[in-house]
Amino acid sequence: MTTNRQLRLGAGLTGVGTSNAAWRRPQAKINASVDIDHYISQARKAEEGKFDLLFVADGLFINEKSLPHFLNRFEPLTILSALAAVTSHVGLVATISTSYSEPFTIARQLASLDHISKGRAGWNIVTSPLEGSALNYGKPHPEHDDRYRIADEFLQVVKGLWDSWEDDAFVGDKENGVFFDPDKLHALNHQGTYFSVQGPLNIIRSRQGHPVIFQAGTSSVGRDFAAAHADCVFTNLVSLESAQAYYNDIKSRAVHFGKNPADISILPSIQPVLGATQEEADRKFRRVGELLSAEDTLNYLGRFFDHYDFSKHPLDEPFPELDDSVGGNAFQGGTRRIKSQAKENNWTLRETALQATYPRHPFIGTPEKVADEIQRWFESGASDGFIVGQNEAGGFEEFVDLVVPILQDRGLFRKEYETDTFRGHLSLPVPANRYVKEVQR
Ligand SMILES: Cc1cc2nc3c(=O)[nH]c(=O)nc-3n(C[C@H](O)[C@H](O)[C@H](O)COP(=O)(O)O)c2cc1C
Repeated sequence: MTTNRQLRLGAGLTGVGTSNAAWRRPQAKINASVDIDHYISQARKAEEGKFDLLFVADGLFINEKSLPHFLNRFEPLTILSALAAVTSHVGLVATISTSYSEPFTIARQLASLDHISKGRAGWNIVTSPLEGSALNYGKPHPEHDDRYRIADEFLQVVKGLWDSWEDDAFVGDKENGVFFDPDKLHALNHQGTYFSVQGPLNIIRSRQGHPVIFQAGTSSVGRDFAAAHADCVFTNLVSLESAQAYYNDIKSRAVHFGKNPADISILPSIQPVLGATQEEADRKFRRVGELLSAEDTLNYLGRFFDHYDFSKHPLDEPFPELDDSVGGNAFQGGTRRIKSQAKENNWTLRETALQATYPRHPFIGTPEKVADEIQRWFESGASDGFIVGQNEAGGFEEFVDLVVPILQDRGLFRKEYETDTFRGHLSLPVPANRYVKEVQR
């Protein structure tokens, strides 16, 4: 790693919030997750703070126990296309499932977003953990490890399609009536285990060549997928030690796959809570947590286990013994972590549910303290940056106004954008077109 290594910052756009409580705070707009003006204002704030990217998570199945934000929210590519038109520098990362999409469509949509944004598209590859997704697509839900095999082939196909046209293929020779050079057009002719795609794609490569790839697997097979394919990895670990262990594991897996570990950015998600004093920040953290009922926390915990109904177990007894048949095909890495933490700490079901839903974390305090913590994680091999969300409405704006300037003054984060593509912000080269010998920049 170079000495002038720079922190990466992403804005997690979560509308009405990622807890079951944030929407109940007085300043929260209950329709924020489907309010274009709310998204535009957050995107502009992120760009004012010189953020690397905007991140839009997604899911394909809801029920009455889902979080308010999940119940009623924008589809990622649609909202990011709108945000592309009102921003100029910030990266735009859309979550898209490889289990319930077709590679030709996704290659086309992401290439379009990359053109529309002039080189700022990113793709968070998810395999869709919840079995219920299958009910919305009329096909069986693939097994956990199969989902990653599908994702692998899906990504190969998409990358192949992105290379369909060489950059100078469209010659537009009006005099001789030659619109394109057929030697610079390449059909993929992919015949694989899961997909059969002829190509070529009906859109040329964009400025980034290939949009930036994100991933968030936590199981062993998920970590291998991330290490092999991702430019950025998104996590949700709340302790420095667990984040360091995850960081080391992904980077060493990346080396195993022949990659330079510095080319993968590991970005834990955080929801900072700021106050003029530590006491004020603690109070702000508590006032949201106090709005969570035990039922809310059981529902939140249950989603990791494919919407398992925890209410049938006693709340104040040790976390129940569950084998892998409960949730193991959903968030496999997450459920194993929750079970082992409950055992190690002798947590009751109530404690486990609260820890999964609303854990106390280190990013609560004065702006200086939160900046210190960010610097500590960044410099001690726990992260390369963060995806910043908010605990309640207004929290993201406070972070940009109060914490970002401290990080800038410390030389950890940019004061101005040096480039205007997402790859540029991450210092990632434009991948060569597989059909062209020399590397294109
Ligand atoms: C921090 C984090 C964020 C995630 N965000 C999403 C998301 O927005 N949409 C989704 O379908 N899955 C999301 N996932 C689920 C993963 O993509 C993956 O399907 C799931 O964790 C199961 O794989 P694993 O057992 O390898 O962890 C997320 C996982 C983590 C850890």
